[in-house]
Amino acid sequence: MRFPHTKESYGHLLLKEDNQKVLDKLIQINAEFQLVYMDPPYNTGRLRGARKHFRDTEKQNWQKDIFTLTKKVYTLLKDTGFLAVSINQMELFNLKPILDNVFGADCFVGLFPVKIRHKDRQLMINATFHDLFEYLLIYRKKKTTRFFTQNKTAREDKFIYTIETSDSPPKENTINGKRVEIYEPQQYQILKTGYSPAALRRYILAGKLATGNWSGEWYEKHLRQLGNNLLVRVWGLDNAGLGFRWFQTGNANRRSGVYFQSTLSAGRPILPCNDLDFTEVVPTIYREGGIGCDFKDSKKPEALLRFLIEICTQQGDLILDPFGGSGTTLAVAEKTGRNTVVIENNPIAGEVIERRIDNLKQGLDLDGMRYDFSVGNAVNHLQYLNKNTLAAIPTNTATRQMPPKITADYTAATRTKHSLLFSK
Ligand SMILES: C[S@@+](CC[C@H](N)C(=O)[O-])C[C@H]1O[C@@H](n2cnc3c(N)ncnc32)[C@H](O)[C@@H]1O
Repeated sequence: MRFPHTKESYGHLLLKEDNQKVLDKLIQINAEFQLVYMDPPYNTGRLRGARKHFRDTEKQNWQKDIFTLTKKVYTLLKDTGFLAVSINQMELFNLKPILDNVFGADCFVGLFPVKIRHKDRQLMINATFHDLFEYLLIYRKKKTTRFFTQNKTAREDKFIYTIETSDSPPKENTINGKRVEIYEPQQYQILKTGYSPAALRRYILAGKLATGNWSGEWYEKHLRQLGNNLLVRVWGLDNAGLGFRWFQTGNANRRSGVYFQSTLSAGRPILPCNDLDFTEVVPTIYREGGIGCDFKDSKKPEALLRFLIEICTQQGDLILDPFGGSGTTLAVAEKTGRNTVVIENNPIAGEVIERRIDNLKQGLDLDGMRYDFSVGNAVNHLQYLNKNTLAAIPTNTATRQMPPKITADYTAATRTKHSLLFSK
C-alpha cells in the first residue's frame, strides 16, 4: 500500500464505517501494517452512558466477531508486525485462546497489565472488589520478531580500565571450541587510566552475573578452574566489534572472576517492562486531545499508545486501529511520526476524532502527550490522505476491476465535512 513512509509526509486516513467491511477492502488492495491496535468494546453487556452507541450489548456475537476480525488482521500484518489488544479481565481468558488460535500460541509476546485505577479511589462501593487493571495482549506475526528498543547509554565514568600485555607470547588453548590466550600475572597489567573510547568496564562475576549472564556462565564453566590471577582473552565471545572478551580469574582476596566490557558493547537494550501505571493520568484523561474530545468509552491514555507504538513500530510505519473511539492512536501516531488508518463506525465517536484532528492541526491539543519536536515538528506535517486514496491505490489483478469504495456509505453531510477534513 503506498502510504507516505517518511517523516516529512505523515498521513492518516479516518474511515467512518464498519471495521469488518473496511478490513476486507484493505485485504483486497494488499495493505500491510506494522502494528494493529484493537481496543474493542469489552463485551460488558452494559448499556449506559456513551455505551448505548457502541453495540456493547451483543454478548453472543462478540467472540465470533473478534475471531473473524483477528483473522483479517493477521492477513494485514507485515511479517515483522505486531497485534496489540486491550481487554479487561472479564473477557481476557476467552480472548487469549482466540488470538492463540489465529497467531499460534508461540507468537504470544506477553500480557501487559495496565493499571488504570488508584487503590484508594474506590467509587463502586457495591462491587465485590476494586479492580485496578486492564490488560494488553501482544502478539507478533513471526516468533523471532523483537520489540524496537533503545540502548542504555554507556556510563563514561565506568569505562576507565586499560589492559596492557607484555611482548612474551601467552599460552594458547582451545576451550569449548573457542581460541583462548592465557597470560600469567607477570605478563599483563590492568590500569585505571580514566575514560577513553577504548577503555573498558570491569564487572565482578558474582551473584546474578555469575549465573544469569552469558559471560558469567562461560567463566564459571570453563575458566574458573584455570587457576588464580590469570588474564584470559577468549576469541569469539562477542564484545561488539572487538572479536574477543577479556576475563581475569580470581585471587586470594577476590574469589569471583572478572570480565571486561568495551564501550561499544555497553549499548545493551532496555527491554520494555509490563508494569504500566496510568493511575495519575486517567482522572484527567477527558482533557487529552483538547476541548470536545471527552469520550466515556474506554478512552486510552496517550502515554499507553506511545509506549506501544514505540516498541512495535518505527517512524514512517503504518498502524491500523479498527476501533478508533476518540482517535488516541491517530493523535499519538501523528506526534511520533507514524501513519494510521483509523476505522470508527459510530458517528458520535467519529466527530470526536475529527475534533481531535482539528485540535492537533491548530495546536489546541493541550493535554496528553507533548510533541517530540526532534521527531520533526510533527504537527506541521499533519495532513490527511485524500478519501479516494484507497480506491486510487493500484490493486492486484484479482481486484483491479473492482476498486473498493470505502466512502460509499457516507451521508451527504458527512461527505462535505470529510472532503474538507481530507483535503491537504
Ligand atoms: C473502546 S472504544 C475505543 C477507544 C479508543 N481506543 C480511544 O482511546 O479513544 C471502541 C470503539 O470501537 C467502535 N466500534 C465498535 N464496533 C465497531 C465496528 N464494528 N466498526 C468500527 N468501529 C467500531 C466503537 O464505536 C467505539 O468508539
